[in-house]
Amino acid sequence: MSDKISPPLDRDQLIMQAAALADHLARAGVQWMPRPNADAVESLKSRFQTVAAAGSAASRAAAPVAKTAPAPVAASSGAPSGGSVGPAKQPPRRPALNPTLLSDHAKPYPGPSLPVVERESELATLATEVAGCQRCPQLVRCRTKTVFGEGNAAARVVFFGEGPGADEDRSGRPFVGKAGQLLTKMIQACKFAREEVYILNTVKCRPPGNRNPEPEEIANCRPYFERQIELIRPEYIVCLGAVSGQSLLDSKLSVGRLRGQFHPYFDSKVIVTYHPAYLLRNPAAKKAAWEDLQMMLRDAGLI
Ligand code: URA
Repeated sequence: MSDKISPPLDRDQLIMQAAALADHLARAGVQWMPRPNADAVESLKSRFQTVAAAGSAASRAAAPVAKTAPAPVAASSGAPSGGSVGPAKQPPRRPALNPTLLSDHAKPYPGPSLPVVERESELATLATEVAGCQRCPQLVRCRTKTVFGEGNAAARVVFFGEGPGADEDRSGRPFVGKAGQLLTKMIQACKFAREEVYILNTVKCRPPGNRNPEPEEIANCRPYFERQIELIRPEYIVCLGAVSGQSLLDSKLSVGRLRGQFHPYFDSKVIVTYHPAYLLRNPAAKKAAWEDLQMMLRDAGLI
């Protein structure tokens, strides 16, 4: 039954892949790429209509039994699945694009996507501002160093933690202690290098005694982490633990309730999973955390 050679992509599949590529390049800071959206896709489709029609006529002639309808990427909201009964007709007018990648409902990040050098320079300026921040008197008194975040300014994936611990406070770098070592292993298990992703925290100063950050402290740091994420505008944000998940998604739900699905944050896809420090105390939860990461990797086409 199965052919050794994969059948050529049809017009809709090609357009879907081109749109996904355009989205990826735009996020990576390529300036001349039009931002793909449903209208741009429709316009692309009509521009290629004639060529595609000629192409599919030729391929129908070459393979008259190819009746298989193009498989939708996922159950897209409202996209008609098309009849599988009867002769192959026109493909659906709007292909089932990756629903959160090009969702008409996901609000895009404001403003243009900046080239990587500009992102890096804006992040550096923001880091200097954070280093001098005096908004939380107790945290300012207790901190050794602020911990701004680090990594690739054009990362596909951002890992979003809670706040610095003792090791991070000393070094000024996120996730370098025991929990950080586990996070690095999780990143590597995803087949990323730590330098390929971006890592940041909800609050930039260590809460004394490793307590959770207070709501007011999170509110004070919000403009910083929001700006970092807006500059990077990653495809995926992995929230590690309840503090980061609830802060980013403005939710009161537990990790157990938030995990296992994608949440939108502008047009990034957010997953919430267990914090590495929690996983160190509860190794049985590692399986669930790995399932969460795999959900992301599958969606990204990486596994
Ligand atoms: N825990 C966090 O949430 N962030 C760090 O940087 C280190 C530990």
